Amino acid sequence: LCAVQNVYLLQGINLIRVGKREPVLYGNTSWPDARLHLQHWLELHWPGISLLDCTTTSEQEAVEFLHRMADDPHAVGGLINPGAWTHTSLALRDAAAGVGVPLVEVHLSHTYARESYRKSSLVASECVGTVSGFGWLGYTLGFQALLAQQPA
Ligand code: DQA
Repeated sequence: LCAVQNVYLLQGINLIRVGKREPVLYGNTSWPDARLHLQHWLELHWPGISLLDCTTTSEQEAVEFLHRMADDPHAVGGLINPGAWTHTSLALRDAAAGVGVPLVEVHLSHTYARESYRKSSLVASECVGTVSGFGWLGYTLGFQALLAQQPA
């Protein structure tokens, strides 16, 4: 039993600015630093898993990343933080609907406690659950949730 396993992580528009943008909401830690920590967490808790991640400001690239995931026979699940596209992008929702493996929606901030226009998510219906409000820790929690979805 040494099958290749890939876990995906998609971050949408403006997430590349975390660490610099609105630190009160999103914290001071940049994605490269958070990624190092996540990588380490995965090595400890999910041996053999490979992380494939994409952080993009291009909606086309984000959709194509989900298509790649859909076509990957080794994909076991993914985290998706679409940023503002969460609330607007039917295209991303449709791509998420087609991945065929569990997705977890994550948000750094507590979107349900913010402006009313952040309270609806177009991708939520395509995800097994949502983690929001815990900063980068939410990504670790999301991976834990995905790990729990794996067949024994
Ligand atoms: C976000 C929440 C979104 O409403 C917002 O547009 C973002 C970041 C979050 O991670 O808290 O860009 O997805």
